[in-house]
Amino acid sequence: MSDTTSTQYDELARRAIAARGRAYAPYSKFRVGAALLVSDGQIFTGCNVENAAYSPSMCAERVAVAKAVESGARTFVAIAVATATDPPATPCGVCRQVLREFGAELPVICVNPSGARRDLWLSDLLPHSFSRRDLEV
Ligand code: THU
Repeated sequence: MSDTTSTQYDELARRAIAARGRAYAPYSKFRVGAALLVSDGQIFTGCNVENAAYSPSMCAERVAVAKAVESGARTFVAIAVATATDPPATPCGVCRQVLREFGAELPVICVNPSGARRDLWLSDLLPHSFSRRDLEV
């Protein structure tokens, strides 16, 4: 990994941990933050936003993706996901699929506030994935 990439990932991890602090998770108490780096260098953050009806709850990763796409950014460089678990938790299956929509290869940096970190690839987290190409019959 280059020094630039390493520095970018450190910043992404910090932003995800900060976003986790804004999580609205009164039901599960499981707070998640995400920080998505896009090709022009912008970082879009997200946190989980829960709901009393439970199923409308939104994951942190998908909040970050929605903010990026709404801003016109669709080329993703890396995402950091912050939880308090040890080892740091990986994105849920639905979030993996949502990230996959914008590319098969994406570094997924899973972190916790204690400094633990797992650098993973989306393609390892979601092998043999379904994508828009599968719709081309
Ligand atoms: N959650 C996320 O925000 N991202 C994930 O990848 C896994 C789960 C949230 C959803 C819910 O608010 C809480 O964590 C417990 O599942």
